[in-house]
Amino acid sequence: MARITASVYTSHVPAIGAALDLGKAQEPYWQPVFAGYDYGKEWIKEQKPDVIFLVYNDHATAFSLDFIPTFAIGTGAEYQPADEGWGPRPVPKVIGHPQLAAHIAQSVIQDDFDLTIVNKMDVDHGLTVPLSLMFGQQDPQHGAWPCAVIPFAVNVVQYPVPSGRRCFQLGQAIRRAVESFDGDLNVQIWGTGGMSHQLQGPRAGLINKEWDNAFLDRLIADPAGLAQLPHIDYVREAGSEGIELVMWLIARGAMSDVAGGPAPEVKQRFYHVPASNTAVGHLILENKQ
Ligand code: DHB
Ligand code: FE
Repeated sequence: MARITASVYTSHVPAIGAALDLGKAQEPYWQPVFAGYDYGKEWIKEQKPDVIFLVYNDHATAFSLDFIPTFAIGTGAEYQPADEGWGPRPVPKVIGHPQLAAHIAQSVIQDDFDLTIVNKMDVDHGLTVPLSLMFGQQDPQHGAWPCAVIPFAVNVVQYPVPSGRRCFQLGQAIRRAVESFDGDLNVQIWGTGGMSHQLQGPRAGLINKEWDNAFLDRLIADPAGLAQLPHIDYVREAGSEGIELVMWLIARGAMSDVAGGPAPEVKQRFYHVPASNTAVGHLILENKQ
């Protein structure tokens, strides 16, 4: 059967992608950001996942305000990096896993989560920046990401957005789906976006280190309790775009301990300010065999 071996959590600050693409990763401002991912880059080479189930949000790129799916699963064979206004990022196209994605759609929808099925879309910085952070720079023409990726887009841009509680339950349904797939696959689930940031209005630039670190503590040790947190707490404490953090609860809900297994091992924990207007957080949790 397929199994979820680990979950990875990371911010997706677009300026991180720009820093990589423009060769600025070694500059003093950016070096400490990328240093936090040195461990993960080595770790993932050993882990060799077959598929990453990548929970992210589209930023009105593939989905305009014309239609706004709450939860959308990518069942396509491939996805191009999106043009977000200054040309697509110079990164390889993303190769999907239509078989596993279709199985997860079937299982999760029958498990009462009404997903939108997407066969064709471009993927924005929400998906490509986490890949760059964990796999480093790849040749856009001749290179390829090392594994298949199932994009899973969550609406955290236009209210109403899903609750942390719903996201946590959905993660549990995704774990059940993966484990019922007839095929031997090493699957990771990633939760991306966050941490505290607010990009507009009088509170633009808001960073709340204490709150972010308490979120990381609870995500590790008390995810079920954390999942009860209402939206208003995210927005008040972590800024309007801090709401992206509900996506981390999808990945956390898919870990074995939530279904009665042993607690996951914390392989990496990293927190850094500043990166553009955003606090960068990163965690790696590994399921015990
Ligand atoms: C920015 C955009 C994002 O989507 C995000 O999550 C963090 C920062 C930005 O434009 O700086
Ligand atoms: Fe974002």
